[in-house]
Amino acid sequence: MQARPLDPHDDAQLRAFYDVSWRAEMDDGRPWNGHWTYDELASMLRDTTPEHRAAGLAAYDGDRLVGAGISMWSETDNVDKAYVFPMVDPPARGRGVGGALLEAMVEQSRAAGRLTLTSNAAYAGPEDDQSPPVRFAATHSFHVANTEIQRQLRLPVDDALLDEVDAEGEPHRDGYTVRTFIDDLPDRLLPSYCALVNQLIVDAPSGEVDYEANALTPDSMREHIAVQRRIGRRVYRSLAVRDGEAVAQSDLALQTEGDTAVQSGTYVHRGHRLGAAVKVANLRAVQRERPDILRIDTVNAETNSWMVSINERLGFEILAVAPSFVRHLEPRTSTPTRRSRSRAT
Ligand SMILES: CC(C)(COP(=O)(O)OP(=O)(O)OC[C@H]1O[C@@H](n2cnc3c(N)ncnc32)[C@H](O)[C@@H]1OP(=O)(O)O)[C@@H](O)C(=O)NCCC(=O)NCCS
Repeated sequence: MQARPLDPHDDAQLRAFYDVSWRAEMDDGRPWNGHWTYDELASMLRDTTPEHRAAGLAAYDGDRLVGAGISMWSETDNVDKAYVFPMVDPPARGRGVGGALLEAMVEQSRAAGRLTLTSNAAYAGPEDDQSPPVRFAATHSFHVANTEIQRQLRLPVDDALLDEVDAEGEPHRDGYTVRTFIDDLPDRLLPSYCALVNQLIVDAPSGEVDYEANALTPDSMREHIAVQRRIGRRVYRSLAVRDGEAVAQSDLALQTEGDTAVQSGTYVHRGHRLGAAVKVANLRAVQRERPDILRIDTVNAETNSWMVSINERLGFEILAVAPSFVRHLEPRTSTPTRRSRSRAT
């Protein structure tokens, strides 16, 4: 096995890389799993920003691409961390490709000074320390940092249920206005929206790994929105607004193809039933405007009982166990390379 950096601007290479990643996630007996579309993966690897860096590492057996590794990191926050995700074509599994790919990404991260490595996986329950991905992770010195549960909601949700959930929260929401925006947000709401999104990673239960706040700014958010719009990834954002500021947000991203939306984050100032309000608002808007969207995927820590209870009330059903893994690295003792400060993978 030979691992080579992926050139994301080489269309043929990127297509082969994507196809392997798709088969690894969607064609290995997990029909409930979700995956990026080609356009989403291409954009992630091509349109990188200081806040969202990503790189691919391709594993070859001779001329054949058999493994696709993705690393992600930020240059503006959590600079001690990198996320790594190896995927191997199902027919090529069990021969060490995944392990070699993962270790190659680990070494790249170590060289870049990223000493806290995270990864994740999804397998059909129940929770099991001997499940194949957990064993694979353990072989490579990753352990479970947090156990999350992947859930799915089939659409449409009955309007009567949405009305009921909304009405229950109504008495607690005096002074808050809930609004839904598609793709763009008004300039006046961007700073408070970014503050919510930046804080989400700090307060969402993440088990053993502590994250510092993200560093999105209104300018970088505008760029991000422009990219999502260009690739045709509609994002529904419902906000609760009070005194001109966003105090709760929920983002629902519609994939660029297919019938799936991904619930990507909800962060609210607590105590006013705003979480349910912004989720209901997104559901109403998507059901009204996009009847072709038939499922919403989400992942929550089981310790996030507040968010899980809202999801269960809305009808989300358990699909899979989704462990997050961590591996702590020792710094390299030899002289650092010239690239070590600026490159994460
Ligand atoms: C996990 C994955 C990358 C392993 O790839 P691989 O090339 O089979 O890995 P290796 O040959 O180096 O290691 C095989 C080990 O992985 C584990 N494994 C995980 N999923 C497996 C699968 N579907 N088939 C075979 N082995 C699997 C087994 O425990 C096996 O160990 P064993 O030999 O003791 O039984 C691959 O199964 C995959 O692409 N899974 C989907 C993506 C994913 O979950 N990636 C993140 C994992 S942290």
